[in-house]
Amino acid sequence: MNTPTHAANVKIACDAVSMTFIQKGVQRVPVLRDVSMEVFDQEFLVILGPGQCGKTTLLRIIAGLETPSSGEIRLDGAPIDGPGTDRGLVFQSYMLFPWKTVLGNVTVGLDMNPALTPEERRVEAKRCIDLVGLSGFEKYYPHQLSGGMKQRVGLARAFSMQPKVMLMDEPFGQLDAQTRFFMEQETERIWLSQKRTTLFVTNNIDEALLLGDRIVTMEGKLPGQVKASYRVDLPRPRDPMDIRFLQLRQEITDAQELTL
Ligand SMILES: Nc1ncnc2c1ncn2[C@@H]1O[C@H](COP(=O)(O)OP(=O)(O)O)[C@@H](O)[C@H]1O
Ligand SMILES: [Mg+2]
Repeated sequence: MNTPTHAANVKIACDAVSMTFIQKGVQRVPVLRDVSMEVFDQEFLVILGPGQCGKTTLLRIIAGLETPSSGEIRLDGAPIDGPGTDRGLVFQSYMLFPWKTVLGNVTVGLDMNPALTPEERRVEAKRCIDLVGLSGFEKYYPHQLSGGMKQRVGLARAFSMQPKVMLMDEPFGQLDAQTRFFMEQETERIWLSQKRTTLFVTNNIDEALLLGDRIVTMEGKLPGQVKASYRVDLPRPRDPMDIRFLQLRQEITDAQELTL
């Protein structure tokens, strides 16, 4: 559990973040309590927790889509107070425009940047489409793509904005097991090529162990709280049959009582 402690290395800081939703004006739903954690520069951090423990809520707060009831999130030291292109989002649902091609879906974010000429946008979109392995599919529409390919489009779109950090919320939850494993390997390949700081949420322990430099676990009941942090000091690509992989898997499972 030895992690870098230099403040300068901290990319995302969550400082005592709590969230209580008010339903129908009166009923209070406490979803997060006192969540404090950091994501370090160039780190691949995985938040692991069962369903309904507040993971998506936390990511939405970091994305600036929700305001926490108390506490603060900082990105590069500056408090977050709304959405921004400095955070690239990839969610479980693909969020693609069905009437736009792959190229059109990837250029969406770039089109908002007046500093870029149309040609520069195309070049940048093409670079990101190459990065996620979709070259040759630029003119396809979402309905012509498999689930894994749709999620690649989402990844390319998020990357195209050159965000400071990537926020990924169970991005492969809808994929079949084989495609999921392939996409996990692809995610690692892309991350290794760029080392873009990534905060990745999952309920899947094997996915967490395959991808994370570090795994932060969350409690299985509301309000969600951080439980522990594990450093995954194993060489990449990880081997799920490696004895150390299995030992850490057991250690986390024992501590977590994961009911997945
Ligand atoms: N806008 C909301 N209003 C009320 N309750 C909410 C809202 N958003 C999420 N919740 C509640 O927060 C809990 C945790 O949800 P979520 O953050 O999606 O967890 P997870 O991603 O870990 O499954 C759920 O029980 C859900 O009912
Ligand atoms: Mg969720």
